[in-house]
Amino acid sequence: MMRNSRIIIIIAFSVLPGLSHAQGHAAAVEPLSDDEQAIVLSLSPLNLPRKDPTNELSGNELAISFGRSLFFDKRLSVSSTRACASCHDPNLSWTDGKAVPEGGSRNTPSLWNVVYNRWYSWDGGADTLWAQATRPIENAKEMGLDRFALTKRIYNNDDLRRGYETVHGKLREPVCASDPAITNETCLDPERADATKILVNVAKSLAAYLETIISNSSAFDKFVEGLRTGNTGAVQSYPEAASRGLRVFLRSNCHLCHSGPNFTDGEFHDIGVSPKDGTLPTDPGRFEGIHVLTESEFRSDGGYSAAADPKLRFIRAGPDVWAQFKTPSLRNVVLSAPYMHNGQIATIDDVIDHYSNATSSTYRHVHLESTVKPLHLTSIDRSNLIAFLESLTDPVLIQNGNFRR
Ligand code: HEC
Ligand code: HEC
Repeated sequence: MMRNSRIIIIIAFSVLPGLSHAQGHAAAVEPLSDDEQAIVLSLSPLNLPRKDPTNELSGNELAISFGRSLFFDKRLSVSSTRACASCHDPNLSWTDGKAVPEGGSRNTPSLWNVVYNRWYSWDGGADTLWAQATRPIENAKEMGLDRFALTKRIYNNDDLRRGYETVHGKLREPVCASDPAITNETCLDPERADATKILVNVAKSLAAYLETIISNSSAFDKFVEGLRTGNTGAVQSYPEAASRGLRVFLRSNCHLCHSGPNFTDGEFHDIGVSPKDGTLPTDPGRFEGIHVLTESEFRSDGGYSAAADPKLRFIRAGPDVWAQFKTPSLRNVVLSAPYMHNGQIATIDDVIDHYSNATSSTYRHVHLESTVKPLHLTSIDRSNLIAFLESLTDPVLIQNGNFRR
């Protein structure tokens, strides 16, 4: 009896549209304004990249294949226990899933679409993908294999030497290759240039491989394609919550920094990610990054680069860049928790909380971006915004088992 009367009520409301609104049924999603539509069209598609002019091996198949094998090779670390993939695990969306790696202070970023970046690392300490790839190899907290030890290791392992020579040509015997008693300092003066060049070559092959880690096919891309071509079926199959979340994204000005088809402006901002205990941030971020980059022997306008990149002319380490960090891409972002440069925000819900309220009263950064204002989102806005971020996930990753929540 109860059941029957409920069915009748539902039928009654569904034939009377006015009444169904009064019952709190969701209103239709508002159409996008012309301005909003223009922004949405600017967020997709993510076209394939051009060759990197600073890396003569960009797009080279031999280098890509050598780079791929190196990326997963533990012999690239001093202890032979750690590969690039130990921290950038493809099954964890190219991260380690940790707040920060052991002994480190920055969160391991995903490597999806890394080729599109303008600067590398959270602080922009490198300006090309190959210069970035030299850093973990020599960094004592990452692989810790300096260029001399790297040279010896490649020379002394037949398969590595063959791989190297296929791409980079003959490797002549390093003076210290066979005698472990000779230290790097004593043996390599005349070889110094060689060892540095070998490090750069290895990094350029790694970079050629990293350039292929591209993800550009999400539900959102299908939606935008539908919008562009007038395919209403494609537009309508985009989930309603994501569609509402897209409007929250635009209204909240997220797109001012997470702009363009890779959802990043490629630049640096301070959005108020403070240490949990409320103290002021101690990581100088971009301020330090500019100094590191300016002093780097591997700058894109230096002797190891195949072509000078003019962007370096415009950098300046003024006080305003203190504690700024690079805007991360939002593609596949739900797969790469925890978040932010210090990995301090555990879940995507907490990120939305950060934007919604944490910046209002607790926030004491000096250089906080004026675009970051407490949004005071409703719980429906929050869940829609998350549905939108989820729609930036590439379903192919899920099929390949690269999906983690
Ligand atoms: C111990 C863990 C660890 C290892 C091993 C490691 N990385 Fe990383 N990687 C990181 C962290 C942490 C960062 C961020 C560094 C920073 O911002 O200061 C990073 C940053 C990067 C970036 C920059 C991404 C971006 O968007 O700016 C690239 C590219 C990269 N690593 C490639 C590699 C390669 C290639 C190797 C192997 C040669 C490697 N990594 C080894 C942890 C690691
Ligand atoms: C002023 C520029 C700016 C605006 C506006 C902005 N972001 Fe960000 N976003 C950043 C920067 C910079 C970071 C990294 C900050 C850090 O690590 O300290 C970031 C980090 C994130 C992350 C974490 C990603 C990761 O891999 O760690 C997410 C998710 C995110 N933003 C979503 C949003 C959403 C949603 C909005 C709108 C409500 C928004 N952002 C508005 C610049 C911005």
